[in-house]
Amino acid sequence: MNENIVWHQTSVSRTERAEQKKQKPCILWFTGLSGSGKSTVANAVEKKLFEIGCHSYLLDGDNVRHGINKDLTFSDEDRIENIRRIGEISKLFIDSGLLVLTAFISPFQADRDLVRSLVADDEFVEVYIDTPIEVCEQRDPKGLYQKARKGEIKHFTGIDSPYEAPSNAEVVVKTADITVEQCAIQVVDYLKAQGYLNK
Ligand code: ADX
Repeated sequence: MNENIVWHQTSVSRTERAEQKKQKPCILWFTGLSGSGKSTVANAVEKKLFEIGCHSYLLDGDNVRHGINKDLTFSDEDRIENIRRIGEISKLFIDSGLLVLTAFISPFQADRDLVRSLVADDEFVEVYIDTPIEVCEQRDPKGLYQKARKGEIKHFTGIDSPYEAPSNAEVVVKTADITVEQCAIQVVDYLKAQGYLNK
């Protein structure tokens, strides 16, 4: 990095921003296969957080790939860069005092661990949306598995591109066994129990 670029201390601190919002900022990092339910559960969680007066922001894979990451493909290299950028953006949101929800496949353990290492230990909550690939493929909400099986999409996660399941996720959500509402309650209950809400 250029030695003439110096970190500028802001007048309002991150602690003050968080205190004003009466919450403990963190990244709620949803990871899982395409069609596993990451966005659906993340949206349901954000709605619950909003209803109890929390301040949050949801970063979603498909949306971010329309904007800041529209130059990236699904090669391993670009997926790594995708997650690195999201990690840095999430870190800024943490600084702003928010609860950040992210919904990206984020298939590689090393990249998720890299984001974890960007923030304090208790500021990264990994939520593994643990849905069997058979279920994801059956749901196939965007018809992408069908295309991938026909070879019309290359490097599709779970088909011809790997997904490394988390070994140390704080929350594991089994969407095939419970309702979306129950999934959302499970995540919010974790946040309440760990003291992130209503500080
Ligand atoms: S990640 O692997 O880099 O974390 P990300 O979450 O941003 O992926 O984007 C995944 C979304 O892009 C999927 O939900 C799907 O809609 C779409 N997509 C398009 N091509 C692929 C592909 N080859 N593999 C996975 N998802 C794809």
